[in-house]
Amino acid sequence: MKVAVFGASGYTGGELLRLLVNHPAEVVAATSKEYVGKPIYLVHPHLKGFYSMKFSSLEEALKGDYDYAFIALPHGLSKDLVPKLMESGVKVVDLGADFRLKDPSLYERWYGFTHPYPDLLERAVYGLPELNREEIKGAELVASPGCNATATILASAPLVKMGASHLIADLKVGSSEAGSKPTKGTHHPYREGAIRPYSPSGHRHQAEAQQELSKLAGRKVKVSLVPHSVSSVRGAFASVHSFLEVDEAELWRAYAKFYSGEPFVRVAQRGTVPNVKSVIGSNFADVGFASDQESGRVTGFAAIDNLIKGAAGQAIQSLNLMAGLDERTGLTIPPLSP
Ligand SMILES: NC(=O)c1ccc[n+]([C@@H]2O[C@H](COP(=O)([O-])OP(=O)(O)OC[C@H]3O[C@@H](n4cnc5c(N)ncnc54)[C@H](OP(=O)(O)O)[C@@H]3O)[C@@H](O)[C@H]2O)c1
Repeated sequence: MKVAVFGASGYTGGELLRLLVNHPAEVVAATSKEYVGKPIYLVHPHLKGFYSMKFSSLEEALKGDYDYAFIALPHGLSKDLVPKLMESGVKVVDLGADFRLKDPSLYERWYGFTHPYPDLLERAVYGLPELNREEIKGAELVASPGCNATATILASAPLVKMGASHLIADLKVGSSEAGSKPTKGTHHPYREGAIRPYSPSGHRHQAEAQQELSKLAGRKVKVSLVPHSVSSVRGAFASVHSFLEVDEAELWRAYAKFYSGEPFVRVAQRGTVPNVKSVIGSNFADVGFASDQESGRVTGFAAIDNLIKGAAGQAIQSLNLMAGLDERTGLTIPPLSP
C-alpha cells in the first residue's frame, strides 16, 4: 500500500510520518510549501535515518502513484485538492475541516466560504471510529475530526445516550494544536505560563461535535465549547458538563458499555479521573466521569494527545479500517511516562 502525506512538514504531518515508520504502508510522497527539495530530517530531525526522500511540492505530489492520501494542510486548502485525488482513484483521509460538516450552509456560517463540492460532503464520513466504524470501512473520503471535537465527543457520548441534550465543554489544550507557524498568540514567549480561553464563543469545533452527537442521539444536542490554552506542548483535556439525574453506578455502567471492546478508549476506574499525562505519545483516549449529587451535575472527561488520537493516530486508525487492516496496525504504542 502506497501513501502520500500532504502537509508533511507540519506538526500533524510529522506525526503521520513518525507513526507510519511502523506501519505496512509505504510513504512515497511528502509535501511542503517552504521546504521543497529539502530532506525530511531538516524539518523533523527526530526522523533522521527513517526517510531518505525529500519534500515535494503539492503539484508534484499530485502526479504521484499511491493508493491513499493523508491531507494535513490548513483548512480551506483540501476542498479543491480532494476532488482531484478522488478522480484518480486515490482514497483520502483529510485531517482538516473542509469535509467534516454535512450541511453545506454551515461552511458559510462557521468557515466563511461557500462549499464548492456539496456532493462530496454527502459522501465524506466523519472519521471517529468509536461512532462511525462501519461507515469508515466503506469510505473513499474520511474527514478526520478536530482534536477538541474528538475529546468533547468521547467525553460525552455516553451522557448523550443517557439523555443529555445540552452540553458545556471546557477544554485545556497544549500549544501544538495551533500548528507549526507561530503567531502573537501561539508563539512560545506568549504561551509559556499562559492559561486563557480562546474563541470563547462560537469555536468551530462546536459545529462538528453538535452534528455527531445529535446523530448519535437521534435528536438535537446542543454543545457549547470553550478551549483554554495551557503551556504544555501536547494534550487536550475535555470536561463536558450537563445536568442529569443519574448516580455514579449508572454512569459507570453507561461508560463501560459504550466503550466496551474499543481498542483505543480506556475507561477510568470509578473514583479515578483521566490525565493527559497518561496518554501522551499514544493513540489512546482515556475517558471518565463524575457526578455532583448536590447540584445534579454530571461531567464526562476525556484526555487525548491532540497530535495522535486528536489527529495523526486517528487518521491512521481510519486508513486501517478503509484498507481492511487490523484497526490497531501501527498504533499499539504505549504512552510515554513520566
Ligand atoms: N495541530 C493539531 O493538534 C491538529 C489536530 C487535528 C487536526 N488538525 C488539522 O490538521 C491540519 C494541519 O495542522 P498542523 O497543526 O499540522 O498545521 P501546521 O503545523 O501549520 O502544518 C501545515 C502544513 O501545511 C503546509 N502548507 C501551509 N500552507 C500551504 C499552502 N498554501 N500550500 C501548500 N502547503 C501548505 C505547511 O507547509 P510548509 O510550512 O512547509 O510551507 C505544512 O506542511 C489543519 O487543518 C488542522 O486544523 C490539527
